[in-house]
Amino acid sequence: MTIGKCVNSLMVVLLALIPVQSQGEIIPVETRSNALVLEVNNQKDVTVAYLGKKLSDPSEYAQIARQYRQAGDYTGLYQSAYTPAGSRNLLEPAIAVTHADGNTSLDLRCVSHTIKAVDDNVSLLTIQLKDPVYPFEVTLFYKSYAKEDVIEQWSEIRHQETGNVTLHQFASANLNLKADAFWLTHFHGDWAKEMQPEETRLTHGIKTLDTKLGTRTNLFQPSVFMLSLDQPASEDHGTVLFGGLAWSGNFRIDLEMDPQDNLRILAGMNHYASDYSLPANQTFSTPPFWFVVSHHGQGEASRKLHAWARDYKLLDGNGQRLTLLNNWEATYFNFDEKKLFELFKDTRKLGVDLFLLDDGWFANKYPRNNDKAGLGDWQPNRKKLPNGVASLVKEATTNGVKFGIWVEPEMVNPKSELYETHPDWVIRQPNRPEHYFRNQLVLDLSNPEVQDFVFNVVNRLFGENPDLAYIKFDCNAVIYNAYSAHLNKQSHLYIEYVRGLYHVLKRLRDEYPVVPMMLCSGGGGRVDYAALQYFTEFWPSDNTDPLERIFMQWEYAYFYPAISMSCHVTNWGRQSIKFKTDVAMQGKLGFDIVISELGDKDLAFCQDAVKNYNDLKDVIWHGDQYRLVDPKHHAMAAAMTVNDTKTRAVMFNYLVNTRYDQKSRTPITLKGLDPAKKYTVKEINLYPGTRSRITSSQPYSGDFLMTVGLNPQLDSSRQSVVLVVTAL
Ligand code: GLA
Repeated sequence: MTIGKCVNSLMVVLLALIPVQSQGEIIPVETRSNALVLEVNNQKDVTVAYLGKKLSDPSEYAQIARQYRQAGDYTGLYQSAYTPAGSRNLLEPAIAVTHADGNTSLDLRCVSHTIKAVDDNVSLLTIQLKDPVYPFEVTLFYKSYAKEDVIEQWSEIRHQETGNVTLHQFASANLNLKADAFWLTHFHGDWAKEMQPEETRLTHGIKTLDTKLGTRTNLFQPSVFMLSLDQPASEDHGTVLFGGLAWSGNFRIDLEMDPQDNLRILAGMNHYASDYSLPANQTFSTPPFWFVVSHHGQGEASRKLHAWARDYKLLDGNGQRLTLLNNWEATYFNFDEKKLFELFKDTRKLGVDLFLLDDGWFANKYPRNNDKAGLGDWQPNRKKLPNGVASLVKEATTNGVKFGIWVEPEMVNPKSELYETHPDWVIRQPNRPEHYFRNQLVLDLSNPEVQDFVFNVVNRLFGENPDLAYIKFDCNAVIYNAYSAHLNKQSHLYIEYVRGLYHVLKRLRDEYPVVPMMLCSGGGGRVDYAALQYFTEFWPSDNTDPLERIFMQWEYAYFYPAISMSCHVTNWGRQSIKFKTDVAMQGKLGFDIVISELGDKDLAFCQDAVKNYNDLKDVIWHGDQYRLVDPKHHAMAAAMTVNDTKTRAVMFNYLVNTRYDQKSRTPITLKGLDPAKKYTVKEINLYPGTRSRITSSQPYSGDFLMTVGLNPQLDSSRQSVVLVVTAL
């Protein structure tokens, strides 16, 4: 057995071999606050002995097991770190296979483990498991991020049998938790209704969060969830685990309360319709399941996760973003060069950085004048754009704004030249009628030719327009009639599709490492920490009604930092332009309205708001977020973001219930400030002609603001209030 080199004393991730009463070995994976403790017994089974607060003396992890007097374990595997099917197991397996000789049993014993310090903060534990009978191996990976208390887990599967082994189940992670009760918060949705939370106490048996949609996989349910231990966690109290799978395809998370009342979590790619035939000596890699544990509620869990996302996952997570004017809702498919030239002027007038041209700019034989035709034919439409995209980029630049463009390269309308030329590139059953989602079908990204095509849609745009500054990468259909003309094994399609997608995205990022790209999928159908490695931001929902967005952004923000969330001011909702802009300023600000139709005051307000946003974007994008008043339980919503030196913060307040006499009756206590510092509070984004009710000259201590609080003076005449808190 090999052990990685010990690292310096600051290194909080620790791996050691600690004898367990001569029974086996203890392998603790420690982060700053927590420990995931694995145990290898005499038979070399690896189990999860503990997941919880870190102990100051790691040798005491060996004493944990004997403190439990739960029901017997008939298998010795209830707590397996990677439960193999077909031998002793009686519960949901992490892995199930049929060997090359047709045998369906699997046993996995530890042969070695290693630890590698990736850097001062990150450490990688690798555990090698082997079947004692078959030449079949699994490697378990635990990558721990000490400061952020995040652990990523995944597995690699390999064998040297004579013939292929069929993998029926192939989890990334298999965890085990102990608590008096488990409360699960998960999310459901549909188009324009993304991220609707539900909380439930888990009972015995299995609760499954999964998707079988193939693409746009979050449409009904994302893989992200929260699990509270003992009792439902609140913003600042309770032990809570946030988890999710870094995978843009079908996922499956099983939460199984076992006969001992412990909770097993099995997370990975969905094995639905996905038996995988693995040749000898090839490695089958599963995607990372990430999780963070906080003992101080959901707020701390999300701040740790945001920090991790910005530092390690989201592309350019600590960088800058572009504010923009989008023309989707302003014009839909109805535009031409002349109209766009006018919109460039509006972009400039508004003061944002970039104009984003949306759907409808392409296809000639079947022009893209609505969503029924043209998808797949990525040549500029000659009628609308006689001088191509190049002239748009040039004219935008002349107007002092950048230019970005929408693509949806994974998809095809049957009414397109692409479909006529390459019917074999389309995912569809050869002997069944086609079934459409938004009048379109999905291209077969398992096929390398299709990968090249998709890559080249974007590559050509950049090649022809080196100044292109932004891409909105959309994906509007799910997979029906899953069948690939390219693959021999149809059950590989769902997995190979996603691998093909990542292959394309990686190629794009190798060529264009820094260009900002928005991950969009008919709204929030696709967002996860695998895709976000290639994207700077995502589109949470086509529903931009600001009242809906207050709720939706609230839920997304548990898992994704503000810098990654595109929030646009649009015509959805009947609220004032101020209310809409205030809500959109909580994420990455954009507009999708007809600027030329704005009244003078509305325009002046927007221009001022863009200036305010530019002044505050460093705090909004890179600061720590604190939720103050939850709109699910109150007539108001309030949240704030504080910079790392605690010298500047921005607080967003909204009235979400406009019934008679609703108002902020009591002060809202702020969070994350320095109690010893003195601050002023100034209201910004004032609509022209209105006066603030907040006295900006009054200094308050951080202590006062966080103990007594401040009343934003919300009422029916002031339904949204943005406050900037500045240290004196
Ligand atoms: C999807 C996107 C929208 C817009 C349209 C264009 O619905 O979510 O923002 O780009 O496609 O067809």
